[in-house]
Amino acid sequence: MNQQAEAFITDAQSLATEIDAFKQVHVSRAHESAHLHVSGRASYTDDIPVVAGTLHAALGLSTKAHAKIVSMQFDAVRATPGVVAVFTADDIPGVNDCGPIIHDDPVLADGIVQFVGQPMFIVVATSHDAARLAARRAQIEFEDLPAVLTAQDARKAESYVLKPLKLSRGDAAGKMAHAAHHERGEMLLGGQEQFYLEGQIAYAVPKDDDGMHVYCSTQHPTEMQHLVAHVLNVASHNVLVECRRMGGGFGGKESQSGIFACCAALAAWKLLCPVKLRPDRDDDMMITGKRHDFHFAYEVGYRDDGVIDGVSVDMTSRCGFSADLSGPVMTRAVCHFDNAYWLPDVHIEGYCGKTNTQSNTAFRGFGGPQGAFGIEYIVDNVARSLGMDSLDVRLNNLYGKTENNRTPYGQTVEDNVLPELLAELAETSEYRRRREAVREFNSKNEILKKGLALTPVKFGIAFNVQHFNQAGALVHIYTDGSILVNHGGTEMGQGLNTKVAQVVAHELGINFERVRVTATDTSKVANTSATAASTGTDLNGKAAQDAARQLRERLAKFAAEKFGAGEVTAAQVRFASDRVIVGDDAIPFGEVVAKAYLARVQLWSDGFYATPKLYWDQATLQGRPFYYYSYGAAVSEVVIDTLTGEMRVLRADALHDVGDSLNPALDKGQVEGAFVQGMGWLTTEELWWNAGGKLMTHAPSTYKIPTVNDTPADFRVNLFKNRNVEDSIHKSKAVGEPPLLLPFSVFFAIRDAVAAVGDYKVNPPLNAPATAEEILRAVNAVRSARS
Ligand code: MTE
Ligand code: MOS
Repeated sequence: MNQQAEAFITDAQSLATEIDAFKQVHVSRAHESAHLHVSGRASYTDDIPVVAGTLHAALGLSTKAHAKIVSMQFDAVRATPGVVAVFTADDIPGVNDCGPIIHDDPVLADGIVQFVGQPMFIVVATSHDAARLAARRAQIEFEDLPAVLTAQDARKAESYVLKPLKLSRGDAAGKMAHAAHHERGEMLLGGQEQFYLEGQIAYAVPKDDDGMHVYCSTQHPTEMQHLVAHVLNVASHNVLVECRRMGGGFGGKESQSGIFACCAALAAWKLLCPVKLRPDRDDDMMITGKRHDFHFAYEVGYRDDGVIDGVSVDMTSRCGFSADLSGPVMTRAVCHFDNAYWLPDVHIEGYCGKTNTQSNTAFRGFGGPQGAFGIEYIVDNVARSLGMDSLDVRLNNLYGKTENNRTPYGQTVEDNVLPELLAELAETSEYRRRREAVREFNSKNEILKKGLALTPVKFGIAFNVQHFNQAGALVHIYTDGSILVNHGGTEMGQGLNTKVAQVVAHELGINFERVRVTATDTSKVANTSATAASTGTDLNGKAAQDAARQLRERLAKFAAEKFGAGEVTAAQVRFASDRVIVGDDAIPFGEVVAKAYLARVQLWSDGFYATPKLYWDQATLQGRPFYYYSYGAAVSEVVIDTLTGEMRVLRADALHDVGDSLNPALDKGQVEGAFVQGMGWLTTEELWWNAGGKLMTHAPSTYKIPTVNDTPADFRVNLFKNRNVEDSIHKSKAVGEPPLLLPFSVFFAIRDAVAAVGDYKVNPPLNAPATAEEILRAVNAVRSARS
């Protein structure tokens, strides 16, 4: 054989191997914007070059928690150099509301203020600084009204934003009455500021014929479109909302970007000028809602082996002054109270306390973490009261695989992998050996005490509201073979666009680099859902796959006819390795596309997806609200200083189930990020309102999010080997929110360390966040209980 022929054969062989091995999913790949993120070239809303004549807005905020507005005087505001206009509720041409579900959320306060920080008016000026300065110069006369500030006070006053939720199964009261052991208690779980690094922002540019283009940092462009249309009293088709990316959303930009979109659009509409509204961090934190803090009262009856006979919980959340998403958040809390456990006799009540504070909203986990924290606290108590290892109590109560697997809300858990997952983690983390080592350490050390805990997670994936579980996408193939994808989801750093691009590349058998994903834009894909509930990839990945599949089928039909010489059917045409394989020929993808265009084949397609199997009855709280569950567990080891309350996480091992990962690198990143964020929630992040209802922790100087120094010194994150049993996108599972619950292990390790002070005989009255002060308080409480 001559050299040329030999080279040809090896080439053909290596091409064949390459084609067989071709895959663009289940592979680690950098975030599509990583190179931009790290070089400062990623464009956020504030980086968009402004149009000439752009004005800047600032909001005037209430200084009262609850008061009548007697009068508002703007002379000094208007006299400030640079000020162009002042707008109040009276200037709104349409509806003065930005509530996502219930219409109790004024864009601008009208006659009454309901929390310190509530926007009352908009100042528009030629510069950002002038607008901010002028906003402080308004003379407002208030008449104070009584204010309700905490969840417990709301409960006492029976002040609710929605009617209470109740879910019961079996006979919890009867079972508790006859149980071998019984206990009851109360506990507080704090809220959390989203602390997206890019703050809220909207830039509204008026367009021809009553059009309005709003660039907005939002997880929910369609909702922003609707809100702006209602405020301006125009049809939705007049409003275009666009978001290329957010510098984090974490739930805080699901509904609460609305006030900023509406105020910027209102000012732009009135002045026929582009208007940018970018509150500074303090204002952002004063205006926007946070994770709901919860008060729990519980009662539990259990056996000698820790098996729970009956349990009841009464949860009250601090919702703030309006409903916002508080109802769905409480629903998710109720549906996650079971977490990993089979609770045949259970009674759950959820109260949505109306308070004169910021309107609390979505935050990673959306009530799920709060509900699950409730049962974990109870299980932790049961273990300590019995002198058992808490892991054994957890295992004794775990959901079964084929029996004892029905949730209190009627869904059967069909994909439970917790028995294997917990066994694997206990083994790899050497849990049992380290338990002994911790006890040994504590018996020898008076001041420093170590603690260890392993906690599981089961998290339901889908929106509880059935119709939100739909998505659309558009895929364009240009004649040079490059691809542009648009879908309804938003990119907030989680890597959604990367995963969607991988799915499209895989479907078309092309290199990832050919695919570009563009900004989310309400004029491209209509009627989108919020990118939330961790469903971004599940929904938009499937919709984009549908679009890509249609294109592939068209190209296959064309290629079979054009290159197959009548011997190859469309079904036999393969797409891999950037080539279209027709019989023995492997034609470059770009060549096929160019020829298909000349043959007048449609080279773009839409795609759609609706999640199957879901139903939910909000009245009875029964149904199948989730398509499947994601699982995980973590072991944390901490050390506390019993003199100062200081704490360090020495080591954390997390094992998390993402099904068959689309992109292990991104998924690990999500698990790590969620772990640290959840750890911040449960340890250092404390929201504190003064007696007048003013949030005093409204900047990083007083509100402590974790830094790199707070991350576990030894941090081992692994993905559990699994495949989704449902037909999710390439058998993967959602990853965005579930791992936020992994750092429960940090909190319970702290509680374990505190318990060591009392020789493990007392259940430490530790609330979350377990700040240094709180740890010290619990240490002292345990000491006095023992003496
Ligand atoms: N990751 C980053 N980097 N930034 C974010 O804002 N938000 C979280 C999670 N991970 C968030 C994130 C939240 S609250 C949700 S619901 C999901 O991402 C949303 O994206 P997904 O559905 O595409 O996972
Ligand atoms: Mo996430 S809290 O569902 O935006």
